[in-house]
Amino acid sequence: MTREAVGENMIESIYLMLAKIGYTHPIHPAITHVPVGLTIGGFVFDITSRFLTRPVLAQTARHCMVLALISVIPAMLLGYLDWQHFYGGAWLFPIKMKIFLAGMLLILLSSALILGLKPEKNANSILLIYAFCLAMVLGLGYFGGELVYGSKTVESGVAEGPVADGARIFNASCAACHYPDKTETKIGPGFQGLFNRESMPSSGLPVSGANIRKQLKTPMQFMPPFSDLPEEDIEALIAYLKTL
Ligand code: HEC
Repeated sequence: MTREAVGENMIESIYLMLAKIGYTHPIHPAITHVPVGLTIGGFVFDITSRFLTRPVLAQTARHCMVLALISVIPAMLLGYLDWQHFYGGAWLFPIKMKIFLAGMLLILLSSALILGLKPEKNANSILLIYAFCLAMVLGLGYFGGELVYGSKTVESGVAEGPVADGARIFNASCAACHYPDKTETKIGPGFQGLFNRESMPSSGLPVSGANIRKQLKTPMQFMPPFSDLPEEDIEALIAYLKTL
């Protein structure tokens, strides 16, 4: 077995374990609010300490930022796991931005920690760094939202029935990698006019519900498997793909 395959299996076994206790959601969002909240809190305490000239609040701010630094590390690790599991490690634009912003946040929080050893002397630089930290967490939140909701293509129109359900599932699980309204490749092939084509875009197999199901259960190469997608959702996805 290759090294990558071993790593992949380790990650998948974590998600399998969680699924066994009934947890099938991404795990990064559950913890990511901890460093985000602490960073916002730290910034607010530091600003307040200046307005009210209460140095003790600046100390509270520093404590918040130390906890932010400690908690940002597991948040980044879980973000990495979710990225591998739910997006197959695909280099999507919001992912690149999140990796960059999280790296910057880590550096900024560490610098604030070091400057905090001489808090009186470095008070202004510390506040400036906190402001940058705040900007990083706002950016992280923005691109997290982009990743999950950004590629929504059906905002209105038919709201009920399998086609609408299929569209919703597609937007949530597939649109990050597949265009519904183009034939060009995003990460995987575009699906415009899929059911009017001679053959499936990647495998060259005949276009059919069965072959879509096959790709979901046992993807050819880079696509993450969707093996626990309920039968109902697969039917809805196929119904939707037929309308493209
Ligand atoms: C992380 C990116 C990614 C996601 C998410 C994704 N796909 Fe794919 N898809 C791919 C890639 C890459 C291919 C090219 C074949 C391969 O590498 O498996 C592909 C190929 C396909 C094909 C063509 C198979 C063939 O036989 O030619 C279909 C159909 C498909 N995907 C459907 C879906 C559906 C439906 C979803 C959502 C439930 C989805 N994909 C989610 C990346 C993705």
